[in-house]
Amino acid sequence: MSPSFADTAIAPDSIEQRVSELLERMTLDEKIGQMSQVNVGDSYIHDYLADGIRDGRVGSVLNVVDVDVVNELQRIAVEESRLGIPLIVGRDVIHGFKTVMPIPLGQAATWNPEVARQGARVAAREAASTGVNWTFAPMIDISRDPRWGRIAESLGEDVYLTSVLGAAMVEGFQGDDLSAADTIAACAKHFVGYGAAESGRDYATTNIPENELRNVYLPPFKAAVDAGVSTLMTSFSDLDGVPATANEYLVRDVLRGEWGFDGFVVSDWDSVRQLQIHGLTANDAESAEQAAIAGVDMEMHGDAYANHLAKVIEEGRLDEQVIDTAAANILRIKMRLGLFEDPYTDPTAFPPIANAQALETAKASALQSVVLLKNDHHVLPLSAEKLGTIAVIGPLADAPYEQLGTWIFDGDRELSVTPMHAIHSLVHGKVDVRYLRAMETSRSRDTGAFEEAAALAAESDAVVLFLGEESILSGEAHSRADISLPGAQADLVRRIRETGKPVVAVILAGRPLTLTNIVDEVDAILFAWHPGTMGGPAIADLLFGIESPSGKLPATFPRMVGQIPIYYNQKNTGKPPTPETIVHIDDIDAHAPQLSLGMTAFHLDAGYTPLFAFGHGLSYATFNYEHLETSASELRLGESLTVSVDITNTSAIAADEVVQLYVRDLVGNVTRPVRELKGFRRVRLQPSEKLNIEFELHTDDLAFYDRKMQLVTEPGEFQLWVGGSSETELETAFRVIP
Ligand code: NOJ
Repeated sequence: MSPSFADTAIAPDSIEQRVSELLERMTLDEKIGQMSQVNVGDSYIHDYLADGIRDGRVGSVLNVVDVDVVNELQRIAVEESRLGIPLIVGRDVIHGFKTVMPIPLGQAATWNPEVARQGARVAAREAASTGVNWTFAPMIDISRDPRWGRIAESLGEDVYLTSVLGAAMVEGFQGDDLSAADTIAACAKHFVGYGAAESGRDYATTNIPENELRNVYLPPFKAAVDAGVSTLMTSFSDLDGVPATANEYLVRDVLRGEWGFDGFVVSDWDSVRQLQIHGLTANDAESAEQAAIAGVDMEMHGDAYANHLAKVIEEGRLDEQVIDTAAANILRIKMRLGLFEDPYTDPTAFPPIANAQALETAKASALQSVVLLKNDHHVLPLSAEKLGTIAVIGPLADAPYEQLGTWIFDGDRELSVTPMHAIHSLVHGKVDVRYLRAMETSRSRDTGAFEEAAALAAESDAVVLFLGEESILSGEAHSRADISLPGAQADLVRRIRETGKPVVAVILAGRPLTLTNIVDEVDAILFAWHPGTMGGPAIADLLFGIESPSGKLPATFPRMVGQIPIYYNQKNTGKPPTPETIVHIDDIDAHAPQLSLGMTAFHLDAGYTPLFAFGHGLSYATFNYEHLETSASELRLGESLTVSVDITNTSAIAADEVVQLYVRDLVGNVTRPVRELKGFRRVRLQPSEKLNIEFELHTDDLAFYDRKMQLVTEPGEFQLWVGGSSETELETAFRVIP
């Protein structure tokens, strides 16, 4: 057996040198082996897997989290394969490992990059203790369609918010030193456009014009690359007729050529072979050829590369240089991970799973992620001192698994603290808490327990309903065409309403829901997403005012599904609607002949506004924004200006607020959105405290891709708003001059 590379006498200094020296020693088959990832799936090491690793036919494995098995696989790779190249071990560690943070969409509602970074740090540390050294996260697909089940895994609809939080997650997973034992390689996915699936049906076709692609879908990936992300994953989807996994323009021209990405690109699960199913290729050999040409370095769980690449090269259809580059990209990341120095994992060197700090991070993230959508007559916070009895009702009050959300392969439901338990322990001895599930699941249509629920409500001083959708209703391949509360939940709400008691709805869900049919039937709504392991204590603290809600919506809540796609940074159109121009279908005069109804861009039955706007989120405190000023009314290209605003907490409650800055470029070479988020900051304000907040805005921050796909900032007039949501009206203006 040859010595492993790490044992060679003269270790080359730089990673690049080591990569090229190793490459020179590799056979074509060994290089293709690096490009092949195999699913393990259980703790048993099959002969074909061990032999494959031994023979240099496997560069990566996924879905193995038993540290003894991982170490054994690494041992086979390092000690028994000809060149001793260690494996990169992948796993979907999406929003936590054993300790589960809120779903990514919930984390986005925190508008707090530090929370996102810390969540990823905790996840990386826990996952790394089992030998995993690569996660398939963050998912940074812009998602403007809540029907799409994977919106749960996304950071919402906005380019800037997704870019900032996605980069923070990359930094959290990867840390300052990728070779440290407790950091893992991140993977920005899905490159690109997956979130634009037609009708929100997972895996469906996407058609995104290049200008939209460059201005909306690509920037979060550029931000991830700038943050040093190690890998990218291509999307399953077809983009303008060329599936992303065969899209040379995306991977070679944009990612490598324009952005200089030097990590590696992995396909999605079997998406190389799926090129044939898409109808792009006739067989696996052609699929392998096209994916390799496009620049997909590693095939995730599929055997098109393993079975066909060598032959494709032999036949002269593919230059071997393509294989060299792909293998080098993979080896480079393995070296950065420090795997050649030490491929093994010592679980005893890690802090315990779900330790106090991990749980604290999960709770902080959940606390900041919950959005107070409405709060009539200040029904919230509930007073533990004044309330004698509360009724806790609903299918999601005590559902430890369901509060974890989608993509929690390793999430431990035993660690979950449910809202029902947390409320009990928080107000124990003060409030009599009575619980009734009332529905088996959120989908149940059986109303048999509703009278009992109503009786319980009638005997109580307030009712907290835990509604929403279980984990299984969002995530991959879990799209919905109707995104209202499933089952008989709306009937339950109405029945409880009839008791006349104050009603608070806490909604756990993996997506924005259409809440039009219940919004007026409840006094307050706390939208809690799937809040993770510590969702219960976070929700209890918010209900009883230990902390004020401070989450802000990362995605627009439509009134009706027919409004989708509806998002705040839409274009103005040539016929923008106003409250005066819209006519409701019920108001069309049956007797007076009418030829037109306003002639602007609205729906007769839904108007044009959402139920809850992007950036919306109430607080128990009240904030006053004033004195919005810019340091100059004009700035030259290449300069910055300072935006300043005063914010005062006009209440007696200490609370966080997320200050948001939006701009509008009034005239552009291509039309620009009516508002675009360009800055945000989460701040804490004590009662009556006044803060002056400043944002730096550089003219580069105003750049967009024009008709020629050049990134430009154009001189001209800009409007600027600052406030607590995308609907803020506190406004000023400035001008950019050449
Ligand atoms: C398919 C999903 O699209 C992707 O996001 C995930 O990382 C892989 N499967 C691996 O599980």
